[in-house]
Amino acid sequence: MTNDFSLHPVDLTSAAAIAASGLRYDLVDTSNRAAFEAWFQADSRGFHGPSMSKEQVDSNFAGVTYRRTIGVWDDRLVAPEVPVATTSSWTEQLTVPGGQSIDAWAISSVTVSPTHRRRGIARSLLEGELRSAAAMGLPMAMLTVSESTIYGRFGFGQAVFAADLTIDTTRASLVAHERRGTLQHVSPTVFVSEAPPVFERIRLATPGQIKVWPLRWEQMAGTAPGDEEYTKNTRVVRFDDESGTPRGFVVYRVKGGGADFTHHKLTVDYLLAETPEAYEALWRFVLEVDLVREVKAELRSIDEPLLWLLSDMRAAQVSPIDHLWLRILDVPASLTARTYSGAAELGFDVSDDLGFAHGRFVLSTDEGGMPQVRPVEEFPATIASVALSVNELSSLYLGGVTVSALVAAGRITELTEGAAAVVERVFHAPTTPWLSIWF
Ligand SMILES: CC(C)(COP(=O)(O)OP(=O)(O)OC[C@H]1O[C@@H](n2cnc3c(N)ncnc32)[C@H](O)[C@@H]1OP(=O)(O)O)[C@@H](O)C(=O)NCCC(=O)NCCS
Repeated sequence: MTNDFSLHPVDLTSAAAIAASGLRYDLVDTSNRAAFEAWFQADSRGFHGPSMSKEQVDSNFAGVTYRRTIGVWDDRLVAPEVPVATTSSWTEQLTVPGGQSIDAWAISSVTVSPTHRRRGIARSLLEGELRSAAAMGLPMAMLTVSESTIYGRFGFGQAVFAADLTIDTTRASLVAHERRGTLQHVSPTVFVSEAPPVFERIRLATPGQIKVWPLRWEQMAGTAPGDEEYTKNTRVVRFDDESGTPRGFVVYRVKGGGADFTHHKLTVDYLLAETPEAYEALWRFVLEVDLVREVKAELRSIDEPLLWLLSDMRAAQVSPIDHLWLRILDVPASLTARTYSGAAELGFDVSDDLGFAHGRFVLSTDEGGMPQVRPVEEFPATIASVALSVNELSSLYLGGVTVSALVAAGRITELTEGAAAVVERVFHAPTTPWLSIWF
């Protein structure tokens, strides 16, 4: 990852729109700690977070200022240095089907102060981010969202779903397998140094995963300053294979059972497993901890293998949510960056109100699933073709969304009979997309 993007100037169209309402839109000088702190406090306030301590500001100043950090200021206010709106963006590696990753524009920290809401600031920020990403030659933008009602209007589509699990441990025995390897408690600092290489060895196996930046590992481990309750309750268990190599970790907390000591709740904050045996051993561990009645885990895969390990699948309640949203900016570059299942020729009539992805495109794949894309005026009569907006194309992109469901919902139109089934077959990713963190 390079940070050439961090100084890319703000979009002039958005700057003019924001200036028209008497506000100023600019990059934050992230070499200036005071300027960064004002921005960071506004970002936290925007998400109803607390005032950030000096230690938290220092840690974020060291950890996230490589990003393109943007503010909107209202110079008429009593504290004009505190922005009334924020964003933070960077080029990030997104895993796509075929075991590779592409550069995508990750957008985060989108906030507008409640005092300045619903006057078009977020629209200018988002459209500015998309124009800037396109100007930098990035094929795609992405974000995780606080609400699923906001970003469709900017061309984003839900591409990766996640599941929150609540497991009743009294019903949750695992199918018996031979137990190999070693489990042991390790300190959170061991997790911070050893988990990233384990994750890097498997990141490209799952579409939707992104690189995890160093501060995020520390936040997961509770070693970053901030939430003292989290830090003091966090435990880490490591799984080593028979040769003694670390193959997985679980970061978890246990909360008291009240009057009945057997009713503790265990929260899995992160579970990372490089091998099936690490996966089974770590889940078995959390489900068998004494005095725990309920295990909660957020942001797991919607195709979580654990469900198939449970002798009673209904021991787990599964609540899916939309998690990663993608926004294709460059159709040929995006579609040729992944591989597909088998040979086909497909036509996509893509509508995009913002223009980036608008047009007709033919995707040709060979027997090995390698793609070529060409813009066309008209589709050849012989090929399977569909009409859809950039939102739906972005949703389909990672191969985790069922095309027939989008047709049934009226969001994709078959231009030739049976085209949806062909798109489904060609786009399907053998591994269900999953993103294990927020950003
Ligand atoms: C979400 C937020 C950034 C919107 O900012 P804003 O400046 O008020 O938004 P805008 O005035 O630019 O609105 C742009 C469009 O989005 C719509 N919109 C804005 N917030 C929305 C919401 N929460 N739900 C649904 N629609 C929303 C507006 O109605 C407007 O629609 P239109 O232009 O298509 O008619 C702001 O409310 C906020 O900071 N919320 C709390 C933090 C948060 O959730 N951020 C998003 C992180 S992923």
